[in-house]
Amino acid sequence: MKKLVVLTGAGMSAESGISTFRDSGGLWEKYRIEDVATPEGWHINPDLVLDFYNQRRKQLLDAKPNAGHYALAELEKSFDIQIITQNVDNLHERAGSSKVLHLHGELMKVRSTGAGHEVFDVDINYPDVNLGDNCPKGFQLRPHIVWFGEAVPEIERAEVLVENADIFVVIGTSLQVYPAAGLMHNVKTDVPIYLIDPHVMPNLPKQVTIIQKGASEGMKELILKLSEI
Ligand code: OAD
Repeated sequence: MKKLVVLTGAGMSAESGISTFRDSGGLWEKYRIEDVATPEGWHINPDLVLDFYNQRRKQLLDAKPNAGHYALAELEKSFDIQIITQNVDNLHERAGSSKVLHLHGELMKVRSTGAGHEVFDVDINYPDVNLGDNCPKGFQLRPHIVWFGEAVPEIERAEVLVENADIFVVIGTSLQVYPAAGLMHNVKTDVPIYLIDPHVMPNLPKQVTIIQKGASEGMKELILKLSEI
């Protein structure tokens, strides 16, 4: 089976009702990145940060995978699919995709602020995390999210996966955040790249086929195109 590696961003989950970050009306118009998605923000006002992610978690529990997520899971019948996602939701997994690498962490996990940085699943019956919620060793729990200014521990694994792709697909990301955006440069020059996004960005490499559609409709077109190669 051919290795198809997919890089997804917030646009993948937009049709599930989860806000993107940089579109008009996106999350970064309503919140300052510095306040809710940096170690400094956490240090200054952890309550605000916990509240921001509690809201994101509530939104996720009400959301369902969309046709685009399901189409990617279904495509595992024909391709060896590895998803690399910048999304912190779990909609790929809930749609049935089996190999999902989360570059920016996971909303339904928390981790200890103690030296061990142990990671725990959030109880879906009590999804809020508040000040005073501690790990068993007594350290405050924080969202298991890679904030701006923090290392991206999974990036090296992602680079190797992209270097070994036979086909590379990008869905719903503005490609503005590094190192994730740099993964485009790890694709071998003879490997076809398909990009699904309603807004096309300039200066894309020649090997990119643009599918200027939302994730669900775009996945239908991708499946047609893949059947031709
Ligand atoms: P952005 O909000 O930057 O970009 C969303 C992309 O999705 C844009 O290119 C939109 O055109 C596209 N889009 C919108 N609706 C779509 C749809 N229905 N179908 C397909 N695409 C659609 O989100 P990301 O690129 O994912 O990190 O942002 C990268 C990172 O920046 C995030 O992981 C997050 C953020 O700050 C952290 O919070 C650490």
